[in-house]
Amino acid sequence: CGIVGYIGKRDSQDILIEGLKKLEYRGYDSAGIAVFTKNGLEVRKSIGRLANLEEKLGGQPLAGSVGIGHTRWATHGKPSDVNSHPHTDNSHKFSVVHNGIIENYLDLKEELIAKGCKFVSETDTEVISHLVADEYDGDIVKAVQRAVKRMRGAFALGVLTEFEPDRLVAVRFASPLVIGVGKGENFIGSDIPAILEHTRDVYILNDGEMAILTQNGVELMTIDGEFISKEIFHVDWDLETAEKAGFDHFMLKEIFEQPKAYRNTMMGRISDDGRSVELKEIGMTAEQIRGIRKVHIVACGTAFHAGLVGKTVIEDLARIPVETDVASEYRYRSPIITPDTLVIVVSQSGETADTLAALREAKRHGARVLAITNVVGSSVAREADDVIITQAGPEIAVASTKAYTSQLIAFYLLGLYLAQNVGTRDEAYVTDVLMAMNELPEQVERILDSADVLKQIAESVAKHNNLFFIGRGVDFAVAQEGSLKLKEISYIHSEAYPAGELKHGTLALIEEDIPVISVITQEGLYEKTLSNIKEVKARGAHVLALVNAGHEEEVGKSVDELFSIPKTLPILAPALSVVPLQLIAYYASLARGNDVDKPRNLAKSVTVE
Ligand code: G6P
Repeated sequence: CGIVGYIGKRDSQDILIEGLKKLEYRGYDSAGIAVFTKNGLEVRKSIGRLANLEEKLGGQPLAGSVGIGHTRWATHGKPSDVNSHPHTDNSHKFSVVHNGIIENYLDLKEELIAKGCKFVSETDTEVISHLVADEYDGDIVKAVQRAVKRMRGAFALGVLTEFEPDRLVAVRFASPLVIGVGKGENFIGSDIPAILEHTRDVYILNDGEMAILTQNGVELMTIDGEFISKEIFHVDWDLETAEKAGFDHFMLKEIFEQPKAYRNTMMGRISDDGRSVELKEIGMTAEQIRGIRKVHIVACGTAFHAGLVGKTVIEDLARIPVETDVASEYRYRSPIITPDTLVIVVSQSGETADTLAALREAKRHGARVLAITNVVGSSVAREADDVIITQAGPEIAVASTKAYTSQLIAFYLLGLYLAQNVGTRDEAYVTDVLMAMNELPEQVERILDSADVLKQIAESVAKHNNLFFIGRGVDFAVAQEGSLKLKEISYIHSEAYPAGELKHGTLALIEEDIPVISVITQEGLYEKTLSNIKEVKARGAHVLALVNAGHEEEVGKSVDELFSIPKTLPILAPALSVVPLQLIAYYASLARGNDVDKPRNLAKSVTVE
């Protein structure tokens, strides 16, 4: 979900709507705004895209210079007008926008109903508006503090009351929230792009902190009422970085930004002579690194798939055993976490609730936690012991691309860094890998130059309802990401399988004409994968192979179509082979007429468990 709020002299409606547009990717099944108008606190909301809300407002604009807005991604109660935010109490004097989840909302709801409150929605958020109204005795700040203390869960809130129209109250507890500081106006946003058009000076709230905004100032305090001071964080991204820059979709733009993302992620992390990796952001001493007995990599979705590649990289380079877990499973399998375990959490947003919970579990067991994330100041970044920021820039499309590949680059750097410290690889080896890494951006550019070929392949893929991806070793990890990408945005059912495992069951699903995409880049595995390709070909499958340059002839004989990937070291191949798969997913989605950047049922950042 996304939050935006404004208090100042200008008309707030357009500022709120524009801010929400920048946040739409966080959740978009409905939207709404509340503004103080001459008639009091007025609310408009609508299911569906922001355009629906704008249409409603077109007829009856809300004029006023204080307001809050929200885009929702349903967690409690289906998407509907009435379940949309902002929510109000029965007197319509209090209005609330909320991101996150109130775990004890049913208990609170029962109690409030017993007191006579009438609920109109099925949401947990409505509880907050009634609760704040119930706690109110003339001071909105104190009322919010008392209400918040009764709530369990994760939340970022924006609260307005008609009784104090010159104040906007914001609270953060385990859901992101920033305060934008302007001249004669101030803002709240669940994300920086929402307010960047108006100010570059922000306060990033921590858990348990709140802000009281007036037209001319911002007061910061804890939810216990203790005043605090904070440094202003000056944002130096330009807004264009977060806009489409001429591409049809954010996803395509982000796919094409990958060469830059690779360069930026490597920048400043390789010694001037190109012979070693320097990760100054890692606080571990060489001795501590040598003391690591095992690594756990924990993440969700695409970040998890980067972790699968990370496992191969770390095991291969540093010879430290690695386990991988999806974050939502990690805590519940009672993992064996010891003080000599290094837990690596990977998260584009740094706000994924499952990942954050896993991070906290790891810390509780005394492990050192290293985060690979794309967002400076995110929850994951703030709570981890060491942080490698992937320099992918803001990623807007729900389907992750440049964040994934930047995570791969981070894993290569980390793998080499660990290897340097534990002594598993000598300088000559490290130098070779770094030289090959330096070529990756230009090699990705070459793949991007062939986008048209991939478009044609995708258009024929889009005609099918089922599809398979196969690969061995690290190619299987890439196959899984290729399959997820396709599912997310084209809605075509696909499965990724280890090439050799197919014959143990799934081969039964192979029938005439079914597309099989085979990733085949690993030296020493060509022959074996080729025999698996023959198994599916014999059952009528239509096979596309992604193959390392130099092997076209050998593989070409056994497949229907071939796409050649520039030659690189086997371990680096994922950073190239995934790119055609991203483009196939993109063009297949386009061919099916889907909303590429905002696939159904999905959200960019899932801040509930
Ligand atoms: C959501 C997104 C996925 C993403 C996952 C993890 O489910 O739709 O694209 O991979 O969250 O997100 P994170 O920000 O932690 O990398």
